[in-house]
Amino acid sequence: MFFLTTAIDYTNGSPHIGHAYEKVLADVITRYRRLSGEEVYFLTGADQYGQKVQQTAEKEGVSPAEYVKTVTARWSALWKKIGVEYDGWAETTDTRHITCVQSILADLYAKDQIYKKNYKGFYSVRQEQFLTEKDKNDAGEFGAEWGEVTEIEEENYYFKLSDYTPWLRDFLEKSDDTILPAFRKSELINALEKNTEADLCISRPKERLTWGIELPFDKDFVTYVWFDALINYISFIGFTPDDTLPEFDAIWTDRPIHIIGKDILVPAHGIYWLAMLHALGFADEKMPQLLVHGFWNSSGEKMSKSLGNTLDPSELADTFGVDALRYYLVRDIHTGKDANVNIERLVMLYNTELANELGNLCNRALNMSVRFTNGIISPGGPLTPDDTALQQSLIDSTAAYRKAMDNHEVSMGLEALNRHIVHCNQYTDRMKPWELNKNLENKERLATVLYHLAESVAHCSVLLSPILPEAAAKLADQVKLPSLTDLKLDDLKWGLIPEGHEIEKPSPVFPRIDVKAIEAEG
Ligand code: ME8
Ligand code: MG
Repeated sequence: MFFLTTAIDYTNGSPHIGHAYEKVLADVITRYRRLSGEEVYFLTGADQYGQKVQQTAEKEGVSPAEYVKTVTARWSALWKKIGVEYDGWAETTDTRHITCVQSILADLYAKDQIYKKNYKGFYSVRQEQFLTEKDKNDAGEFGAEWGEVTEIEEENYYFKLSDYTPWLRDFLEKSDDTILPAFRKSELINALEKNTEADLCISRPKERLTWGIELPFDKDFVTYVWFDALINYISFIGFTPDDTLPEFDAIWTDRPIHIIGKDILVPAHGIYWLAMLHALGFADEKMPQLLVHGFWNSSGEKMSKSLGNTLDPSELADTFGVDALRYYLVRDIHTGKDANVNIERLVMLYNTELANELGNLCNRALNMSVRFTNGIISPGGPLTPDDTALQQSLIDSTAAYRKAMDNHEVSMGLEALNRHIVHCNQYTDRMKPWELNKNLENKERLATVLYHLAESVAHCSVLLSPILPEAAAKLADQVKLPSLTDLKLDDLKWGLIPEGHEIEKPSPVFPRIDVKAIEAEG
């Protein structure tokens, strides 16, 4: 089983385009792996505890439980709207999760991996984290990124993280595929070198925070939100510290992939989580891989007023359509790198690559088949060098697409697919089926050309399906081969369309986005 997760989003506020990107990326990878013939389990959810949530709920005059319920519903509605389909949904206020977190805490406590100590120092509410001298900036102050910083003195429980840093260092140094892309590994190793002594504070006193999971061994404390949240990756698939675990073992078969943003690699996932798993007895061969993506930034963005100054993914989907949004989110960023949100590019990429190139290919190819050959597709006569070059282009594009997608490089996968689509449109312009149609003698040649185009559309619909599942299904439907949606990548051989296959007049799958019309509607 291929087990894949995203971060669980804080249900404090509204989803922005960065959150939508991470979910769409995970959804695309899930669908791609299924297309490769693998069984996949995709888990995601909502991170519902913590001081920020408690504060916002107070401000709004509702209980934290009511608050997270309303907010979580808003988030899951967005995932449904933009076609993000997961197998498991992890809400951390779920009793299944609470029970698991408490049993893990009890287990570690019984094994002397958790102890109590007094702390005096600085605390950032925004990051819900204790600060040390090394968190100060060059000016010797705690920077704005920490938000409000307060000085506190309190007793808390600590997890013996420092016991695990030697193992972690060694493990990371030996492994080339735990941190993806690889350039992030040094960041993590550096952080480890700097701080080998520190243990992890895993509790908050109830006087300060009640909205959390109570410690099973001290009812005056709740669990630190990160310690609880990380456990979602195992609690929702049936982990318990002591039982036999049939459900868990069926899903966590080898190394899962956690898809996370670059801000939560150090220390949360790269240090705390790997150390926690090791402490729970997970073998090195079972350690997760961390696929660390970059950030979408909105600086430098100049958006027209009526296109909306908003980066609310739900509104973007309403304005431009789900296809345009999903396509943009994985097309205009390289996995691991940052990118700038630019709505003009969203429109441009959709209009050029989908409406003009792929849309045009489908409409022209299928319409001409309806008009010139009564909708009957057949391979026709002998192949010319143009035909064999087109077939080779499809083979090359498919191979490049697979290589890129296997490396989670969706943008490069789409580039590879688009190369073939452009090739097909150029082939059409050169072969001029409309000219061939003028002379009955060219009947066989005309059939061959139209066959090559229809066959390409069939292949493209399969290759596009992880990124735009609904549009791909429409394309498959237009070629009148609904069975295309059941094909796996290895089934993609030339000749998907049977001789004498009949199609009907297509309707456009990618209507152009008309910015002027959107602006006029305001
Ligand atoms: O960090 N671009 O939740 P979160 C791309 N609850 N990705 C972004 C982004 C941006 N501008 N901003 C945020 C949390 N993200 C914790 C996770 S996991 C056990 C707990 C990513 O709502 C971010 O990197 O702040 C993270 O992967 C995800 O969105 C949720 O962020
Ligand atoms: Mg965050």
